[in-house]
Amino acid sequence: MNKKRIVIFASGRGSNAAALYDAMQAGDIQGTLVAVICDHQNAQILKRAAEWQVPTVVIEMKDKETYHKEILKAVKSYHPDLICLAGYMRICDETLVNAYPNQIVNIHPALLPSFKGLHAQRQAIEAGVKISGCTVHFVGTGLDDGPIIIQAAVPVYDNDTEDTLSQRILKEEHKIYVKAVKAFCEDRLEMKGRQVIGINKEEKNDD
Ligand code: GAR
Repeated sequence: MNKKRIVIFASGRGSNAAALYDAMQAGDIQGTLVAVICDHQNAQILKRAAEWQVPTVVIEMKDKETYHKEILKAVKSYHPDLICLAGYMRICDETLVNAYPNQIVNIHPALLPSFKGLHAQRQAIEAGVKISGCTVHFVGTGLDDGPIIIQAAVPVYDNDTEDTLSQRILKEEHKIYVKAVKAFCEDRLEMKGRQVIGINKEEKNDD
């Protein structure tokens, strides 16, 4: 099977990007990271990508229209099979989503469709839920919207802070993001209405 060409979009620390990169290097994901696109010139992900010797593109937001045009042009130049949003804190515009149907995936630190948007972990604590988690989904045109590929749950404890809950969820993010991208690269994911099938039972239950 040919390796898929993967472009990562990120805005900050890049720990999910690192989990994906490590899995590609280890041969667990049949993919090659061909570029990292970032919207902040000081983001930590850029240092990581430099260490990996992966090309980076920095496009900062000045005005919306120019930003989205430049993003589309940059991403197209790398001919990706898959775009992974990994801590990318912006909404993809419709032109990008339509150019890559079911080829853009995102990781979100909540059990969608609950707690979309910023500070999902804080939203979960404030709502008083006892279980939260993370979700990998295909990207639609709405905020944190689109068919769900895989989720993992974690308990929320009475004394949790945004930080402690975020750390517990992040460990699961790294695992499920690798599983989702691995399945994509093995051409296992299929759409059945809004359902995504192809993640096997062992992958779902494995902790
Ligand atoms: C992760 O928790 C990710 O789920 C979240 O940002 C963090 C980035 O961490 N993304 C979102 O909230 C997107 N809606 P990382 O840069 O270390 O991967």
